[in-house]
Amino acid sequence: MTGLFDISGKTILVTGGATGLGRMMAEGLVRAGADVLVTSRNADAAGDAARAMSAWGRCEGIGANLSSAEAATALAAEVKARRKQLHVLVNNAGRTWGAPLESFPDSAWNSVMTVNVQAPFTLVRDLLPLLREGATEADPARVLNVGSMAGMVVERINAYSYAASKAAMHHLSKVMAADLAGDNVAVNTIAPGYFPTRMMAHIRDDDEKLAELAGRVPLGRVGHPDDIAGLCVFLASRASAYMTGALIPVDGGLSGCR
Ligand SMILES: NC(=O)c1ccc[n+]([C@@H]2O[C@H](COP(=O)([O-])OP(=O)(O)OC[C@H]3O[C@@H](n4cnc5c(N)ncnc54)[C@H](OP(=O)(O)O)[C@@H]3O)[C@@H](O)[C@H]2O)c1
Repeated sequence: MTGLFDISGKTILVTGGATGLGRMMAEGLVRAGADVLVTSRNADAAGDAARAMSAWGRCEGIGANLSSAEAATALAAEVKARRKQLHVLVNNAGRTWGAPLESFPDSAWNSVMTVNVQAPFTLVRDLLPLLREGATEADPARVLNVGSMAGMVVERINAYSYAASKAAMHHLSKVMAADLAGDNVAVNTIAPGYFPTRMMAHIRDDDEKLAELAGRVPLGRVGHPDDIAGLCVFLASRASAYMTGALIPVDGGLSGCR
C-alpha cells in the first residue's frame, strides 16, 4: 500500500479552484502534497485563494475567464510558461442557467456550452504536451472532468442547457479517454449530486429547502468538502491508475439508488 494514494509533488491544474467545489478539491490536493494551480475569472481572487491554501503546501493562482476557446488556449499557454509537466488537469469551472422552459433564453446556450464543454476540450487539447510529459504507464496523467448528476438522471431544475452540457461532457470524456489511452493519459468524470456552493445558493441559503433536499438523498445529507476532495485525491493518485473512461457519481446515492 505504501505510496498508493501519494500525490505529493504532482502538478495539478484546477479550473475554478478558488471557490466552491473547485476550492474543496484544490484544498484536498494541496493538503495531500500536490503542487496546485487554481484559476478564477478574477485574478485577485485566484491569488487570494492560492495564498490561503499555501498555508498547507504549494499553490498558485491564475486569472482566466474561460468563456471562449481562445481564453482556454491562453490559460494553457500560461500553464506552459509556469510548469514543464502536468500530472492532472481538473476541468471544474462551470456555469448554469435556470428558467422555465417557456421563457428559457436562447442566450443561455452558447455561454453554458462554451464554459462547460468547449473550454474543457480546448484545455485538454492544448495541455496534451504537458500531460504526456507527466504520464507513465504505471501512473498515467489524468484528466478529471466535473460533470453532474443532472447530466445522468432527470432532475426537475429547469437548467436545460446545463443538463445538456453535462451529458455532453460525460460522453466527450469517454471519447477522449479512448483516444488518449495509448498516451497513458486517463480521462475520468465525476458526477456530483448536491453540494451547497454558490451554484446552489437558492437552496443553500434556505433552511427549509435544504432540509427537503437532504431528505431526498438516500444518505440523508448534501455533500461535504471531504466527499469531493477524497474522490479527487484518489483519482489523481496511482490507486486509480487502471481507471479511464469512468463516470463516477458522488451524490449520496441519488442516481444509484433509483
Ligand atoms: N454544487 C453542486 O451541487 C454541483 C453539482 C454538480 C456539478 N457541479 C459542478 O461543479 C463545478 C463547480 O461548481 P460549483 O458548485 O462550485 O459552483 P460555483 O460555486 O458557482 O463555482 C463555479 C466555478 O466555475 C468558475 N467559473 C464560472 N464561470 C466561469 C468562466 N466563464 N470562466 C472561468 N471560470 C468560471 C467560477 O470561478 P470564479 O467565480 O472564481 O471566476 C467558480 O470557481 C461546475 O462544473 C458545476 O457544474 C456542482
